[in-house]
Amino acid sequence: MYTQQDEKRLYEQAKHLLSHDAASAEGTVIQLREVIIYADWKYYVQSNPVLADSEYDILFKKLKHLEDKYPELVTADSPTQRVAMGLSERFPSVSHLVPMLSLDNTYNAEDLTDWDRRCRELAGIDDIEYCAEPKYDGAGISLIYENGNLARGATRGDGVMGEDVTTNIRQIKAIPLSAALIKEGIQQIEIRGEIVIHKNVFEAFNKQRVAEGLSPLANPRNAASGTLRILDPNEVKKRGLNSILYHISDYTLIEGHSRPVGLLTHYDALQWLYSLGFPTPAKEMQKFKHIDQVIKFCHEFEARRDDLPFEVDGLVIKVNDFGLQEKMGSTSHHPRWAVAYKFKARQATSKLRRVEFQVGRVGAITPVAKIDPVHIGGVTVTSVSLFNEDVVREKDLRIGDTVLVERAGDVIPYIVKPLTELRTGEEEPIKFPTNCPACNSELEKQPEEAAWRCININCPVQVVERMIHFASKDAMDIRSMGNANVQKFFELGLLNDIPGIYNINWNRVQHIEGFGEKSVNNLKEAIEKSKGQPLNRLIFGLGIRHVGETTAKTLASAVSDIREFYTWDIDKLSVLEDIGPKVATSVVDFFARPENRHMIDLLEQAGVNLKNENKGQMKTDGALAGKTFLFTGTLSQFKRSDAEAMVEEKGGSILGGVSAKLNYLVVGEDAGSKLDKAKKLGTVNILSEQEFLTLINS
Ligand code: IVH
Repeated sequence: MYTQQDEKRLYEQAKHLLSHDAASAEGTVIQLREVIIYADWKYYVQSNPVLADSEYDILFKKLKHLEDKYPELVTADSPTQRVAMGLSERFPSVSHLVPMLSLDNTYNAEDLTDWDRRCRELAGIDDIEYCAEPKYDGAGISLIYENGNLARGATRGDGVMGEDVTTNIRQIKAIPLSAALIKEGIQQIEIRGEIVIHKNVFEAFNKQRVAEGLSPLANPRNAASGTLRILDPNEVKKRGLNSILYHISDYTLIEGHSRPVGLLTHYDALQWLYSLGFPTPAKEMQKFKHIDQVIKFCHEFEARRDDLPFEVDGLVIKVNDFGLQEKMGSTSHHPRWAVAYKFKARQATSKLRRVEFQVGRVGAITPVAKIDPVHIGGVTVTSVSLFNEDVVREKDLRIGDTVLVERAGDVIPYIVKPLTELRTGEEEPIKFPTNCPACNSELEKQPEEAAWRCININCPVQVVERMIHFASKDAMDIRSMGNANVQKFFELGLLNDIPGIYNINWNRVQHIEGFGEKSVNNLKEAIEKSKGQPLNRLIFGLGIRHVGETTAKTLASAVSDIREFYTWDIDKLSVLEDIGPKVATSVVDFFARPENRHMIDLLEQAGVNLKNENKGQMKTDGALAGKTFLFTGTLSQFKRSDAEAMVEEKGGSILGGVSAKLNYLVVGEDAGSKLDKAKKLGTVNILSEQEFLTLINS
């Protein structure tokens, strides 16, 4: 969509427009439009904002102002002419049954006491029961269930119109595709909640992105909302989203036709949903008789906010009784019966003193900012990863800058931006090394990657990192063979490469300070045990670029001995689920290298398991072996699930979207964008239902 050069130009143009105009009003309008469309794309499509919200607002207002003044300059495609900001054109827009409102915010005990007073006035009673639950920091969604089945999932959008993201919502395992609602007398129900991403999933995901030379996403919230709007549902599935549902829409309640019988309070409603299999805050929420108890709970909860697996930015306090809720009503912006209590922001400013460059396991050079110690969310931060050169350039960071640092929960801290208004002019640009800080070989960079790399496979830091990775918990799980010991053994010349782990000179180890008989025996035992690890752990442990745990499992299940990969080519690998050309190329490269084959031989001699007894979890025989299918449109001759089962029965597999990997698209009636895309690709065989049946029976 945009080349790197475009991006650079647009970014600079945006910065310039913040304080300057073009020569003519028309010129300014054209430039503003261009940068806002670009910024929207970065924010909504890429989930990787380039501008601060405030900067974006300034540019947007400026455009609006000029267009108001010169109506002849308005064009249909201007960002100001969108019905709703935030709606991308890639998913159909849908209206919400009732608007998705926001929440009013409170920040302290006093605000809450005020809110309680207003509630009591409005409700006309003195003792209101409140319910408090976490405020999840993700992307709001609306789910409609009809006849017990998930019928529609939509983003919040502007609150009135959202985007129909049902296909993606269906990839989220926390969200039931069906529930026993009919039995409860419910034909239709709208449930609202949040799509969230686990902090550890988010971190792993970012690690992977950085390893692939991409920029990391800013925070779990952006990752969640960005993921919901990815076109390829398979990619959505891989990202492991989660969800928490916290509201039955007023539509369902007020219209009455499907109000759950006997449910009179919010608390009971969420417990009821929970009992039907929906993810709700059933375990975290609590009821209170008095606002003082609520306030106490808010303080306690804030202190343990990090214990939850998701990012939580506050609590939501709700009037528990549905009758009172209805009586109190809503403004156009928020319900009067609910309020958010916001936790303290976990941002702070500090000074960027210097940047160190670290070498990773696969040679990527990571710039790490050293900042003055600063206290954020209970920890002292002194080091902040800057990920790669592009991140540094995009943010225009300089040594001496005052920087805004954010640490969202357990998520690693990151630099939001430099406070450019505080610059003195003495700040210095960050210089990137041309040579590896560990072995001094010249660094290289692939055009499509953000990271500079040291490609010396004997680079000492990489050698050590590879061994640490091999022994790590998720790989061969060799306890006590952590960073410190690997480093020490390496420095003492006891350990030079991965197979060396199985050939340590224990006589020498015994003489190292701190190694008693017991620790030596433990280590020996752990090493011995690792020899029997399943093949997927070995494959993951070998540290093949782009091969994470999941890919390692896929690879392992496709062979009965790791050496089978010596003869696999890119095409053969690409047929495996979730393996694209990039991963396939990397795997082929890895197994083609003589030094890696030698390493595998040495591992075998050491007695390490290279085999997979359970090959065949993937069907590689059958008439459709290796062929991929996708069904689209309304099928009239068979049920989609049956057809998919037939394909799988014959060894074929089902893809989630149209891509170069797709062999057959089977189209029913009213096929839409998938068919268009397949036609455009030109490589997909398009079949009618009848043609499909002929193929499958032939
Ligand atoms: S209740 C009419 N409960 O926060 C009821 N919202 O800042 C409105 N949010 O738009 C929502 N956790 O996306 C509710 N436990 C919770 C929530 C929650 C997160 C989000 C929601 C809302 C936003 C307002």
